[in-house]
Order: sequence, then structure tokens, then C-alpha cells
Amino acid sequence: MCGIVGYIGKRDVAPLLLEGLQRLEYRGYDSAGIVITSPKASGLKMVKAKGRVRDLEAKVPKRFAGTTGIAHTRWATHGAPSDENAHPHLDAEGKVAVVHNGIIDNATELRAKLVADGVEFLSETDTEVLVHLVARSQAVTLEEKVREALRHVEGTYGVAVMHADFSDRIVVARNGSPVVLGIGEKEMFVASDIAALVSHTRQIVTLEDGEMATLKADDFRTYTTEGSRTTATPTTVEWEAESYDMGGHDTYMHKEISEQADAVDRVLRGRIDDRFSTVHLGGLNLDAREARGIRRVKILGCGTSYHAGMIGAQLIEELARIPADAEPASEFRYRNPVVDPDTLYVAVSQSGETYDVLAAVQELKRKGARVLGVVNVVGSAIAREADGGMYVHAGPEVCVVSTKCFTNTVVAFALLALHLGRIRDLSVSDGKRLIEGLRKLPAQIAEILKTEDEIKKIAEEYAGAQSMMFIGRVRGYPVALEASLKLKEISYIHAEAYPASELKHGPLALIEPALPTVAIVPDDELLEKNRAALEEIKARSGRILAVAHREQEKADHTIVVPKNETELDPILMGIPLQLLAYHTALAMGRDIDKPRNLAKSVTVE
Ligand code: M6R
Repeated sequence: MCGIVGYIGKRDVAPLLLEGLQRLEYRGYDSAGIVITSPKASGLKMVKAKGRVRDLEAKVPKRFAGTTGIAHTRWATHGAPSDENAHPHLDAEGKVAVVHNGIIDNATELRAKLVADGVEFLSETDTEVLVHLVARSQAVTLEEKVREALRHVEGTYGVAVMHADFSDRIVVARNGSPVVLGIGEKEMFVASDIAALVSHTRQIVTLEDGEMATLKADDFRTYTTEGSRTTATPTTVEWEAESYDMGGHDTYMHKEISEQADAVDRVLRGRIDDRFSTVHLGGLNLDAREARGIRRVKILGCGTSYHAGMIGAQLIEELARIPADAEPASEFRYRNPVVDPDTLYVAVSQSGETYDVLAAVQELKRKGARVLGVVNVVGSAIAREADGGMYVHAGPEVCVVSTKCFTNTVVAFALLALHLGRIRDLSVSDGKRLIEGLRKLPAQIAEILKTEDEIKKIAEEYAGAQSMMFIGRVRGYPVALEASLKLKEISYIHAEAYPASELKHGPLALIEPALPTVAIVPDDELLEKNRAALEEIKARSGRILAVAHREQEKADHTIVVPKNETELDPILMGIPLQLLAYHTALAMGRDIDKPRNLAKSVTVE
């Protein structure tokens, strides 16, 4: 989605902001812009460009000096991608500049009023109303002007404002869209994502919804949109700046797939308790008595996180014998769900900022539910909003499509299921068996990654397909769903995922030589049933790629993955299919890290 980066200090601001924008490129965007000033300058200088950050960089004049500035990458919501619609937006006098993430819901109404008052709009964006509201405010200070403007606004925002008459400061505000302050030595940074800050400082303050801040070179203060001071406690970011670099890989996706053995090692580290054959999850804030009182578990997430949640629900039901299911958070929040006090709600999100998930959490909290977060980004909105939870410790995931976070989230769910299971009826020997299985995962992942060349060859064969079918049964079904999503997202090949058991109920009609099927065929209690599905496909001359624990004779190709404990098999079976999607997209010449129309974190509805 959109990205914000800002700086105030003594350094030359333009290169610094452009570097920050590059670090936000992964969020997906269509245009970018920058506005700068300095204490001695007579006004604001702005450059905007449709396209990538390099297009903006090419337009920035050689003499573009300043020490204060804000910049933005836009992901179009109101108005097509264009130079005019790119942020920052300026008022008619060119004194006020605003960059904004989020959506102003009453923009049409506000625009009509402003137009009736003679204001001329230069863009089609919702953001521009905010600029004019700030510019027209009669308040004395910039803080009051922004506060007054925001009072008219309904919707979500992460916003940064500069004013030529107040060139010693940047004023920022947050409501529903992340704003993070970075504290430096006699300099301050602001961004919508810590990715843009970590190469300069690891001391950060995350604004809460309804909070504003004034940034000056040597100081900052935070306060509510009503004006009362708030306490900002800086925290230290644990991720190194280098974790955001490509590290010798051609794409972030490849880097992140390759990191999975280490990432899984991290999610396990320090959590296993061999003495009681269980795991410690201190952050859950759920004691044994409370855990025993849970009647149901409901997992909420979107996209890949939802798929991880589906596997999580199966693990919880299987190991802890608590009825559990997963639902897209985007649907849940709109259907007026019955909220049950004995249900444990679990919100899953890599970014911790996905608006649909956050809104579901807020609605649940409002109704008195207990909500846990399973999140990757430390200190993110969902992590802070939840009553407790666990971090998945995958490290920064830059590629728009999620890979290592999916794997780590599923492992995190295995830990949660084991923890709940051992508090309830899971035996010591089963606990021990699963712990042994978990410990094997990093080495088994490394083994799978070694088969990349073989997977690449298969992918090149499938690269021309118009459409592909993915099937799996029970534990294999969410793996099929996730694999088909991965393929669609980066190769743009149409893909369907079905429970293998549903084939006969309709999708079998699609099977023909031109529609390859990817089948998840674990060595579990459903092996023979899965094999029967392969027979049915073969009888219709369908091509089959099986992901299995041993060669499948009905399949044209089998990717053999190492066997683990049956409950943990889905963790490993998804990994070769990430590589399949990757190499298919690569063979088709796709822009893998920046798939069309998609953004890394979806902070709008
Ligand atoms: O940050 P989140 O995990 O909440 O994001 C949820 C989805 O938007 C995300 O998983 C999306 O489906 C990715 N593009 C998957 O590759």
C-alpha cells in the first residue's frame, strides 16, 4: 500500500528520503513524490512522478537541497496513478504539503463544500481535501491547524504535514494507518514502516490511533488529537538493516524462501520444554485454568495468513481436541458474528497491520472477547491490540508474496496446539513425539531446498499453462489453497484449489490434458483416497504433479518431501510449491517481488 517517509535534521534530505522510499518499494505502489524545505528556504520544493522510485529520482533536479522533507509512495485508491494524483499534495499557495496513507471516507462531501467555497482541486485524491482544510484553518500553530482539519475527516489516516511558515517541524497523526517515529542524534525520522528507518536508527516510537506528534530536529512530543500530552516510550527494533537487503539473491522472494530453515529454528528457539514435553508461550497471557476453559478456537486472517490459520485450526483440533476453525477476517467482520465468551479468538497477520484483521480484532475486543495475535512484526497494531499472543520471528518479509512467514506461522500454530494439547489431554509421549518432529523441521526444510533445480525443471514445463488445479485432502487442502494463491499472485496463471474429496462433485469436468493438477499426497491415513483421486485424473488424461512422501506412479512428476510426524506434514509440503510458483513466474518473465495490483500490507478496506 502507500508508504510515508519523513526527516528533519541537518543532513541533505532528498537522498535520504529517496533511499527510504526504495525501502518501502516492496509494499507495492504506482507513483511517488517528495517535498523538502530547510530553515533558511523561502518555501517548499516538490517533485512527483508516476511509476517507480527511480522515475522520481530521475526527475529530482541536481540542486534540490533541504534538511526537512516528507515523501510518499502511492497505491491508487481515489484517482488513477498519475503525477497529479501522486503525493505530496500542496494547497494553492504552495505552503502546506501533506502525504497520507489510508482513506478519507467523507472526501466527496468535504470536496463539494470546499469547491463551493472556491477551492480549486488539482488532483482526484481524497487526500487533497486535508491539504485545503489545513491551509484554510485560522488556528495559530501548525499542530492546531492539523488537529482542526482532522476533526472534519472521517476515515483512516497516517499523515505527515509540512508548512512553509513552520519549517522547523513536521506534524504527523495516526488513525488506522501505521506511523512510526525514528529517534536519531539531533535528527528525527518518520515512516509508515520501520523498513524505511532501520538503516538510520533502531530507536522507535509507534504512534497509537488517535495520537499525533510534532517532530523537530532535536526533540519530539506526542499528544492526542484532542491535544493532551501522551507518554512515548521508545523501543529498540530487533531486526538489522541488512535483513532488508537482497543478500546476493535475485529477488526477495527467493531470499525469503531460502531463509526458511533458519526462520523455523528461530520460532522454536527458547520455547521447547523437554521436561514436560510441551512448549512455553509466555506471551499468551493465558493460564492453565483459562486454557482448559476454552470451548472453541476461531482463527481470523487474510490471504496467506488465513491459509496458515486453516492449518492452525486443524492442529488445534487434532492435538488439543478443541473445536477450531479459521475464517477470512475480511468476511467475519461484516457478518455480525456471534461472539462467545468461551471462544478463544486468534488473529493472524504477518504485518500486524492488515486493516480487515485489525478491524475484526477491535470489534471482538469491543464485544469483550479474548483475542490472541499470531504476528510477525513486533509492536504492530494487531500485536498491540491483542490480549496476548506469539511472535512468529520470521524476520522481515519484504517480497509482496508471503513465504517464510507462512511457514513460521504454521509452526507457531503447531506450538500453540501442542501447548493447549498438553494442558488438556495430549499425552506426554505424543508431546515428545511432536517435539522431536518440530526439531527435525529445519534440517528437513534444508533438504527440500536442495531439490530446487529439479523443481525448476518441472516449473518450466508448466509455465505455459492457462490454468492449474491444486488438490489436497484435510491437512493437504490448505496447502493446496496456499500453493494456488502463490502461483496466481506471481505468475498470473489462473489456479483453482479444491479438496480432493470434492473432485467428483464438479471440478472433474475441467480435467483434460491442458489442465495440470498439483496434488498433495502425504503418507497419512488418507493416502489410498488421494491415490484414487490421482487415478480419476489420469483416466481423464490429466497431467499430475504430486507432492508426496514417495514416488506416485500415477503422477507425471513427484516431488518427494521428507516425512515428519503426520500432524506436521503440511509445514513441509508447502515449501516445494513456493519454489514451483517462483520458477514458473520466473520462466514467464514476471516481476516476482512486485506482482501487479498487489501490496504487501493492505492497510485499507
Ligand atoms: O500481513 P498479513 O499477513 O495480514 O497479510 C494478509 C494478506 O494480505 C497476505 O497474506 C496476502 O495474501 C499475500 N499477498 C500473500 O502472499
